[in-house]
Amino acid sequence: MSVAGGGAHIVVLPGDGIGPEVMAAARRLLDELGAFEVEEQLVGGASIDAHGTPLTDDVLAACRAADAVLLGAVGGPRWDSRGPGSPRPEQGLLGLRKGMELFANLRPVRPIPALLDASPLRRERIEGTDLLVVRELTGGIYFGDSGRRGDEAFDTCVYSVTEIERIAEVAFSLARRRVTSVDKANVLETSRLWRETVERVAAAHEEVDLDHMLVDNAAMQLVARPSAFDVILTENMFGDILSDEAAMLTGSIGMLPSASVGAGGPGVFEPVHGSAPDIAGTGRANPLAMFGSVAMMLRYGLDRERDAARIESALDRALEGGLRTPDLGGSASTEEATRAVLANL
Ligand code: IPM
Ligand code: MG
Repeated sequence: MSVAGGGAHIVVLPGDGIGPEVMAAARRLLDELGAFEVEEQLVGGASIDAHGTPLTDDVLAACRAADAVLLGAVGGPRWDSRGPGSPRPEQGLLGLRKGMELFANLRPVRPIPALLDASPLRRERIEGTDLLVVRELTGGIYFGDSGRRGDEAFDTCVYSVTEIERIAEVAFSLARRRVTSVDKANVLETSRLWRETVERVAAAHEEVDLDHMLVDNAAMQLVARPSAFDVILTENMFGDILSDEAAMLTGSIGMLPSASVGAGGPGVFEPVHGSAPDIAGTGRANPLAMFGSVAMMLRYGLDRERDAARIESALDRALEGGLRTPDLGGSASTEEATRAVLANL
């Protein structure tokens, strides 16, 4: 095994739609960085087609045994609307998060200078934005009791003090100046427990300021004054919604990487964009969020900060050199974007 790659064992899960296309690009980037031991497995719709389930026990075990997991995207219209009891690709992703105890999802939003004019917001609004969404990932309404009862349906939101404490600790440890905790404490009991608990965790981190914001106001502030945020700490569902909103600050959701980490085991690194079935197979997918996710994997998962920074500056330079995929108003293909980034490495 080559020392250059550190011999890290990475499980790659290309998934569905554009997932395999951006994953192929990521593997070229990994090849460029050194020898990794890469093991490819199925997840999502691809796994439903092969095994009738979106995540097999074997694949979960392989992910748990890896040094890090890189994921493309899951889902697509082919597996939708097959009736209530049938397996859904998204369950593969949720099963992976729960099965690997990945309770902390990190989604950094840092508009790249060359893309300031690609955002639907005016440049003056987004300049200086550098925020991190810390989303709780294994609790709340995503994992509470749910079902159908006569003509009703229900989804339950439950949070324990322990679940809130551990995600708040992550947020405070990553904040430079301020944690904005987002909840709906004027309506929800889980949010009132969230607020109380976050206050208690904050008391042990005096160097970081804490403020609370209701989620509806946070949605507004994210577009009104995004540069005022440092770390946004929030529960699973609010984090899902706010991180898509925040993604548009960078010009396209095709730019946003993420890391899902937990209590010390391997993390899962994936772009925030979905499987984009509308452009799958056209060679037009933007691989930059996937490359950013490789950088996050190297930083948070494999302790290789230097390589992470190398990738990030290659992305910046490629964009400064004019690289624009269709989601950014240009015409560069996945292949051209990959070559542009590799050339800047
Ligand atoms: C995300 C996605 C997932 C989520 C879906 C695919 C289950 O939207 O990672 O943000 O809701 O968490
Ligand atoms: Mg989402």
